[in-house]
Amino acid sequence: MLVAVTGASGLIGTALTRRLQAEGHQVLRLTRSRPTAADQVQWDPAAGQLDPEALAKADAVVHLAAKHIGDQLRWTARTKRQILQTRVEGTALVARTMAELAGGSGGPRVLVCASGAHYYGDRGDELLTEASSGGRGFLADVVQRWEAAADPARSAGLRVVHLRTGPVQDATGAGLPKQALMFRLGIGGRFGSGRQWLSWVALDDITGAYLHALTNDDLAGPVNAVAPNPVTNAEFTTTLARVLRRPAVLHVPAFAPKLVLGEFADEMLFASMRIRPSRLLETGYRFRFPDLEPALRHTLGRPGRS
Ligand SMILES: NC(=O)c1ccc[n+]([C@@H]2O[C@H](COP(=O)([O-])OP(=O)(O)OC[C@H]3O[C@@H](n4cnc5c(N)ncnc54)[C@H](OP(=O)(O)O)[C@@H]3O)[C@@H](O)[C@H]2O)c1
Repeated sequence: MLVAVTGASGLIGTALTRRLQAEGHQVLRLTRSRPTAADQVQWDPAAGQLDPEALAKADAVVHLAAKHIGDQLRWTARTKRQILQTRVEGTALVARTMAELAGGSGGPRVLVCASGAHYYGDRGDELLTEASSGGRGFLADVVQRWEAAADPARSAGLRVVHLRTGPVQDATGAGLPKQALMFRLGIGGRFGSGRQWLSWVALDDITGAYLHALTNDDLAGPVNAVAPNPVTNAEFTTTLARVLRRPAVLHVPAFAPKLVLGEFADEMLFASMRIRPSRLLETGYRFRFPDLEPALRHTLGRPGRS
């Protein structure tokens, strides 16, 4: 299969490209930068530029490109606009281009789009599946509009999957190394009550979920891409502390990050999402890391005593 991948230079895209190639697929990498290799093609989602010819030979498209939501700890109005626009405009451009190609009976037949677990908003202990309603809040609204932006591809009869991804726990990612550093410095601890649910996923399983979605014709629409065993913030904290063999005695009261980080803290640190990956499990996906501790030990290079 020839798979065109936008955002192939990022955390998920790099690992997915490697995995697709290892399994014998070809990858065409779409990037905003000037191409430096034969398998790269330039596009400019902000300017609405994507050459349909670039996608014409692909069998499927994986659309990952978007501004990172965690790279600025305080969201300004401009940051929020970019978080929304880079998702909605990029997805709409890819979907429109694929729909045009399909109109001429050509082009890729499958679009697998990144989406976010934040679709569900802050939901306490409620067990959420793909059948659950969308939530409220800035990120919930962004994700709902991000998924809707793929409608042109859906209307053209193409198979469209939205992988509602939880925070990827990987040593090469943005979040886990920062948290691990705080624990190593002895200043790690739970946030607020610690009762908020974290629906996490390992990097191996998010690339596995993309591969599963690409090759499994039964999947269409929203697919929760999270491990089957979410944890509370308190459980995450004690697990990370155990893996790093550091104490987790601190308790960060909710008001402090809310005061310093504002809306970012509400949405990223305190929102509770207890999500079940029902569609992945129903369609036979087998998680390599269903549980948090082995996933953290693997990525942080901290094997347990046997
Ligand atoms: N990692 C997670 O924990 C997580 C969780 C939930 C959802 N997701 C979603 O999954 C997708 C991939 O995540 P990731 O962690 O691999 O992302 P990432 O490491 O931030 O990489 C995203 C890629 O998108 C492109 N990009 C960056 N800024 C952009 C902008 N302003 N406009 C358009 N393209 C831009 C870049 O590729 P070029 O510079 O080559 O164009 C970049 O390599 C994203 O859509 C993300 O929102 C990720």
